[in-house]
Amino acid sequence: MSVFRATLIIFVLIMNVQKFIFDKKEVEFTEGETSWKSPSNIALVKYWGKKEGQTPANPSISFTLKNCYTLTTLKYTKSDNFDFQVFVDGKREKSFEPKIKIFLDRIHKYCSFIVNYNFEIHTKNTFPHSSGIASSASGLSALALGIMAIEKTLDPTISDSYFKEKASFLARLGSGSACRSIYPELVVWGKNNSFENSSDLVAVPFVGAHKIFHDFQDTILLVDKGQKVVSSSVGHNLMHNHPFAQQRFNQAHENLEKLKKALIEGDLKTFTSIVESEALTLHAMMMTSNPYFILMKPNTLRIIEEVWAYRTKHNLNLTITLDAGANVHLLYPKKEEKQALSLINSSLIAFCENKSYICDEVGQGSEKIN
Ligand code: PMV
Repeated sequence: MSVFRATLIIFVLIMNVQKFIFDKKEVEFTEGETSWKSPSNIALVKYWGKKEGQTPANPSISFTLKNCYTLTTLKYTKSDNFDFQVFVDGKREKSFEPKIKIFLDRIHKYCSFIVNYNFEIHTKNTFPHSSGIASSASGLSALALGIMAIEKTLDPTISDSYFKEKASFLARLGSGSACRSIYPELVVWGKNNSFENSSDLVAVPFVGAHKIFHDFQDTILLVDKGQKVVSSSVGHNLMHNHPFAQQRFNQAHENLEKLKKALIEGDLKTFTSIVESEALTLHAMMMTSNPYFILMKPNTLRIIEEVWAYRTKHNLNLTITLDAGANVHLLYPKKEEKQALSLINSSLIAFCENKSYICDEVGQGSEKIN
């Protein structure tokens, strides 16, 4: 890359970040509260590996979910001494506070007003705490929206689109994939040539998909509800100096381009082959990093094999994907729901911890709760 191009990219990045700095004269506000509901999401093309400033090493696209979400009420009181406490299901949860502290420290540059308040963060998830489903995407996006609601109180002139864009920007600083949870249905994050308005700093919704994807189903088969042995942050970092990193990042760009076409055309066969390849590549990256690790469990593979056999036998489009864990997300069009549930209840349930699974589907993104 030429020096001129590198300088230009840095300049554009700085200008893009600049617009998220709150620099208005604050209206005096002493206290208030705001409540937000924000869902989890499941990536189809996976973000794995990050660059400076919590930006992604490769672009990703996800389905926003509907039933797995976090509800957060942010109570704020004007104070000379900044402080905050986290309550989960009504009980103080100090173990959550270090992560929130890192988040608040990171966003301070963009929301300088936060140090003038004391916060109580009351949060609860609709999915069980120990389900093995990461709550960081839903949790941090809900919190980012709460912070934006305070910003809107201080500066009522901000537009709805800026509100969401900055909420996505802030959520990303807490947990990368959280930036996608703000928007409905299909959401892209990470600069790439296939999606013109895509960005490393914020997620953007993709609205051109075929109608079959508007009510796609996701049944999450809970293979292992325990804590992951290796966290996502450690996994992302292991992509630095990973022998296959560059090929993987290139592949994600190519897969995104092919998936976009399949999403527009409603091409389910291509959808399945890309989404499953992405899931297995993600885990292949884990198994080939240094140190290596495995997050899948024997039952993860049993489920995958059963799904593939059933799909071939009945000529269906059941598709598996995985996040950074052992649980299997079974994706399928609404019209195949009956067959999918029949497979789950007659066979796959035996491979789930305590026979547990969660029925979810594509959802409409975050919303304010009155
Ligand atoms: O947002 P993080 O740091 O929890 O990482 C998410 C990583 C994956 O779930 C594996 C992939 C993705 O794009 O969501």
